[in-house]
Amino acid sequence: MAKIAKKNPAAKKPGAKTAAKKRPVTGRAKAKAAPKPKHAMKYYFTVKDSVKVVQDRVGPKADPRAKFVFNALVKHLHAFVKDARPSMDEWMFGIKFLTEVGHMSNDWRQEFILLSDTLGVSMLVESINNDKMSGETESTVLGPFYIENAPKYPNGANICLDGKGEPVWVHGRVTDAKGKPIPGAILDVWQANEDGFYDVQQKGIQPDMNLRGVFTADKEGRYRFRSAYPRFYPIPHDGPVGKMLLALDRNHNRPAHLHFIVSAPGFEKVTTHIFTPDCPWLNDDVVFGVKESLIADFKSVDDPKMAAELAMPNPFKIVEWNFKLAKA
Ligand code: BEZ
Ligand code: FE
Repeated sequence: MAKIAKKNPAAKKPGAKTAAKKRPVTGRAKAKAAPKPKHAMKYYFTVKDSVKVVQDRVGPKADPRAKFVFNALVKHLHAFVKDARPSMDEWMFGIKFLTEVGHMSNDWRQEFILLSDTLGVSMLVESINNDKMSGETESTVLGPFYIENAPKYPNGANICLDGKGEPVWVHGRVTDAKGKPIPGAILDVWQANEDGFYDVQQKGIQPDMNLRGVFTADKEGRYRFRSAYPRFYPIPHDGPVGKMLLALDRNHNRPAHLHFIVSAPGFEKVTTHIFTPDCPWLNDDVVFGVKESLIADFKSVDDPKMAAELAMPNPFKIVEWNFKLAKA
């Protein structure tokens, strides 16, 4: 204020105080009076410096992990925009697409997860977090059709409640990485039916809890159950993700598989699949979930004696699949 009075002779005259107040404040005075910006503004926005300008807005009290993730996001997102150079219309198309994905996401239908799956992001996150180094069973995507509290069955039970599909006997062991059995390990299994749908997609058409069950490994770590030979099926493609796949001339099928979550105290839980070896979509899984180590050898059996012993119809298919869990 003192400096302004010095430079303004009118301020010395009687009554000048009031007159000075009414005058517009000079640019210099405004700069001085304005509160200090919270974060030093070093750059104005330019295409060249866009990343730095945006990252510089992060304040000193930011959570360190949030800051790291935000800065990486800004760096890669800006690089993507500079690479793709969308027109204004294309950018708005992208906004509308994501809005549609959001509108189609709720407790029953998660279009955002489907988007992540079809971009390969779910598998990437899953793979970097489950890097199995010692021959333990590899993991893959969970998918949207898992439900908790599936019925608990004794070993040998039949989970195929609609009676459709080719009968398959699934059996094996759960062990640690060295092959030591894990008695009491829990195996949660689920799969689509012969028509390519999960029970939750066909309420009132399929029996509830069709092709789902929870089994407990016996004292030798063994499990066994009867199911139906899985077949490939389309992921839900009546939403924006389906439109994206169509526009990109991409397949919307998943190769045939059974899902498992295998867990035991003291071991890392594994979320995984076993794939049939003869599925035409094995090399073109829409969600990139296939790993070579998860392709199983399903054999055809025509043996009435063996069928009778297992209480299976003859002929049938059989697969032996052993799970190796990593120590927690
Ligand atoms: C599934 O295998 O159930 C699945 C996984 C990802 C997206 C859609 C379905
Ligand atoms: Fe599935």
